Amino acid sequence: MKRFLFFVLAAAACSGAASNPQAPSADATPPAGDDSENDTAIVLAAEPQRPGDPQKGYRALVNEAYVPCGIPDSAFSQLFSDATADEIIPGREGRNATLPYNWTSYTTKDGVKLVTSNCLTCHAGRIQGKLVVGLGDADGNHVQDPSSALTYLDQFVSKPEEKAELEKWENRMKTVGPYSVLSTRGPNPADMFTAVLFAHHDPKTLAWLDTPIIEVPAPIEVPVDVPPWWRMKKKTSMFYTGGGRGDHARIEMTASVLCTSSVEESRKIDAYFPDVRAWIASLDAPAWPFALDRALADKGKPIFEATCSRCHGTYGPGGAYPNKLVPASDIGTDGLLAAGAAEFAPPIVAWYKDSFFGELARLEPLKGYVAPPLDGVWATAPYLHNGSVPTIAALLDSTKRPRYWTRSFDSNDYDPKALGWRHVVLDHGKKGEPDEGTRATIYDTTKTGYANVGHTYGDALTPEDRAAVLEYLKTL
Ligand code: HEC
Ligand code: HEC
Repeated sequence: MKRFLFFVLAAAACSGAASNPQAPSADATPPAGDDSENDTAIVLAAEPQRPGDPQKGYRALVNEAYVPCGIPDSAFSQLFSDATADEIIPGREGRNATLPYNWTSYTTKDGVKLVTSNCLTCHAGRIQGKLVVGLGDADGNHVQDPSSALTYLDQFVSKPEEKAELEKWENRMKTVGPYSVLSTRGPNPADMFTAVLFAHHDPKTLAWLDTPIIEVPAPIEVPVDVPPWWRMKKKTSMFYTGGGRGDHARIEMTASVLCTSSVEESRKIDAYFPDVRAWIASLDAPAWPFALDRALADKGKPIFEATCSRCHGTYGPGGAYPNKLVPASDIGTDGLLAAGAAEFAPPIVAWYKDSFFGELARLEPLKGYVAPPLDGVWATAPYLHNGSVPTIAALLDSTKRPRYWTRSFDSNDYDPKALGWRHVVLDHGKKGEPDEGTRATIYDTTKTGYANVGHTYGDALTPEDRAAVLEYLKTL
């Protein structure tokens, strides 16, 4: 139950990009071509950000209840024991110090003590057993509809004011539940349900609407690998499609819409989000923790700069990152996220523009993917926006990408040679797997949204040059 609820409580996501049932599958996307003469990429220019204090931002991130609805603490403490040693993070105050890192204590203005979810449900991940705040959670299990087990909690709550709070939270969870289900363990459903939450709020007042103001299409799967926060030091836009523009702090507080019901409540949260943004933008990637062949990495640097830098930038002293968005048709990776953003966007983009969020930020989904900064890329497996490629070795040689694969979801199963997750290549996909539990652990790249095609820029390298680039990537 504990493990299940961990993911059940995933708050509202961050992305405004949602998807459309008619979006083409990746099979329809032409393969990528590497034509540097004909660079079709768009450069996303920097925009002003509200200044903030990173230290205050971290304090707020791990202590403030910016997703202000949840489970009465009286029920929570009956069901769950205190945080174990590996669920504790620094800087937690009061009741938070005894809660696992992804829960935050909150006392409502009527004095009801709640336990609420926070950003780290999705934005803390483990590598080699160590929890890293800001690393995306690559082990998420969103296979069950989170709202299916909700009524179970009712029996643990007796006071009327607590019952009312639980009911509010359950109501919100029921709204997003059907949009939070993925057939596969690992990727995250956030892109599927943010738009649904917007649709259930009046854009002007942010009042909750039981009947959505915008028609929401039936749920479809849009699997997304949670990106690491440290990229925001260099990125001018937010999200894989570069669609989050303007003031990042205002966009970063989006998870609050799971619970908020007024502009006043949202402004209070917004007041400290420039600090949270400043902390996120101050993060550095974790350094490669294993042995390094320095001579080989030095050999890889000029090869990387000749083959990869025009999109991913240069690193080390004097390094520059170009903030390029590559059209989906050129990069050739799975097209569902990029196409869906454009298809679904008009009513959601209009809602956003009219709303509290639109005061400072804009949703501008573009039909492409940002070439991310590759700092700490060794730690961010699996690769590509849908997490379809388990290792960098396979990313750089498309003939080695497994069609069907599975892994243990134990963060100690890291492969320092191939840079990524140890995995088992299977001879069948989900269709050939009778056991339901096992089926959910199979990454099946033949499914819509899950393709591992495109980004073939490493294919032309000789095996020696590829090994050198891989070694160089460890140093970023
Ligand atoms: C339910 C999971 C979930 C929660 C909770 C969540 N996020 Fe995210 N976040 C995501 C996913 C998935 C993406 C990638 C979406 C995309 O690019 O399409 C993302 C993207 C981001 C990005 C952009 C990264 C980049 O490289 O463009 C930032 C910054 C971010 N989230 C901050 C936050 C903050 C701050 C919170 C808490 C207030 C939060 N998120 C809560 C899932 C989540
Ligand atoms: C034409 C621009 C372009 C070139 C050239 C290019 N890339 Fe990329 N790269 C991208 C884009 C865009 C993405 C994101 C694609 C997606 O997520 O669907 C990406 C994604 C990646 C990722 C995955 C990051 C992650 O965490 O998921 C890695 C690693 C990477 N590239 C390495 C390289 C290397 C190494 C080279 C040179 C051999 C290279 N790229 C050449 C545009 C480029």
